[in-house]
Amino acid sequence: MTQSDWRDFPALQQPTYPDQEELHAAVARLRALPPLVTSWEIEALKAQLAEAASGKRLLLQGGDCAESFDECSSDAIAGKLKVLLQMSLVMVHGTRRPVVRVGRFAGQYAKPRSKDTETKDGVELPCYRGDNVNGPAFTPEDRTPNPWRLVKGHERAALTLNFIRSLIDGGFADLHHPEYWNLGFVADSPNADRYLQIVEEIQDSISFMETIAGRHLGQTDRVDFFTSHEGLHLEAEAALTREVPRRDGLWNLSTHLPWIGKRTNDPDGAHVRYFATIRNPVAVKIGDDTEPDRLRRIMDILHPDDEPGRLVLVHRFGVQSVNEGLERLIECVQADGRQVVWVCDPMHGNTVTTASGRKTRHFDDILGEVERSIGVHERMGTHFGGVHFELTGEDVTECTGGARNLSENDLERAYRSQVDPRLNREQALEIALLVANRISKK
Ligand code: PEP
Ligand code: CO
Repeated sequence: MTQSDWRDFPALQQPTYPDQEELHAAVARLRALPPLVTSWEIEALKAQLAEAASGKRLLLQGGDCAESFDECSSDAIAGKLKVLLQMSLVMVHGTRRPVVRVGRFAGQYAKPRSKDTETKDGVELPCYRGDNVNGPAFTPEDRTPNPWRLVKGHERAALTLNFIRSLIDGGFADLHHPEYWNLGFVADSPNADRYLQIVEEIQDSISFMETIAGRHLGQTDRVDFFTSHEGLHLEAEAALTREVPRRDGLWNLSTHLPWIGKRTNDPDGAHVRYFATIRNPVAVKIGDDTEPDRLRRIMDILHPDDEPGRLVLVHRFGVQSVNEGLERLIECVQADGRQVVWVCDPMHGNTVTTASGRKTRHFDDILGEVERSIGVHERMGTHFGGVHFELTGEDVTECTGGARNLSENDLERAYRSQVDPRLNREQALEIALLVANRISKK
């Protein structure tokens, strides 16, 4: 497969732009801009994912369903980073395994939709497809796809990543100072005591080690953080796909870990074929409608050499069908013999709509799907490789349940997502505590 052969295959979920010339001009602009990540960071992630495939590490991937240009703010970014750091801390502590941290951020701006258009009061407009494509307001101005949004999205992603890198370099993620990660919310959370106890234990072990070693432990000053987004908008992904000096092949330098959504995982579709051309580790969403034969073909195309850390399979069955569904796909991969990272997305198979029309997910279903997935791997002798959540560092009310037992009525209070419902910061921390607990019992 060469650089552009994917263009011969059908590309689903692409916006229809009113003006192709404008699209070409915007994509040319994108092509000329510097990338966001480097090939050596991507290789470092691949090495960590190889460890996750063999059970030595866990992947924690999380962030908004869709980022928005308006929410590219200091508080929103720091909040997400904090909650992911806290979750990874309790996972490392509870499981005694290092965690690969991957944000769904700095480029999560394009969304697949089940319908092309939306009708309200007899007016039909294109669906909202993420800020990289159009705006969420139900007006012709907002909903008409505008290709210059791609350039703005690249700039917003760069601002986001720049701030994340500065926070990490400046000591935000220093294990000597986990209190930086707290700022505010943990104190009155129902899980505060458990979290603070973990933090204290970690600080004790670090100071114990430093006393023994007689010096400051350098490795604890900073942690790795990687980015991911759905590689949905193929013109945008291709514009950031580049060669690099002294390394073979092509690299998608807009993110470390692009993924293919469930609606675009057809082995004969342009997404899978484009992903075959890049050297990044790649993730593929799979679920109830993924037949073993399709999975084998996906592996043949994306994972032909069984390169360690290359392929992440993110399954999203829903709590009701994960037992049989996952077992069937694990059998398929076992029979094939290639190594993959198995990751559980307990969000997308558990979405329900309330009587008042809100999309929500119940905490117990989310936790239940993770727990069942761990159980399936235990029975089959394979490795549970990690989790993929939709979450935010803010105090929203979008998913029901959790320690505060949010009800459907609570959803009216602080429901902000334009797309899927996210775990709020307390629910996210709680699920990390419970999942770490479940894994450590192995
Ligand atoms: C998503 O991750 O937001 C998403 C759309 O997931 P899926 O492709 O699994 O439906
Ligand atoms: Co989503």
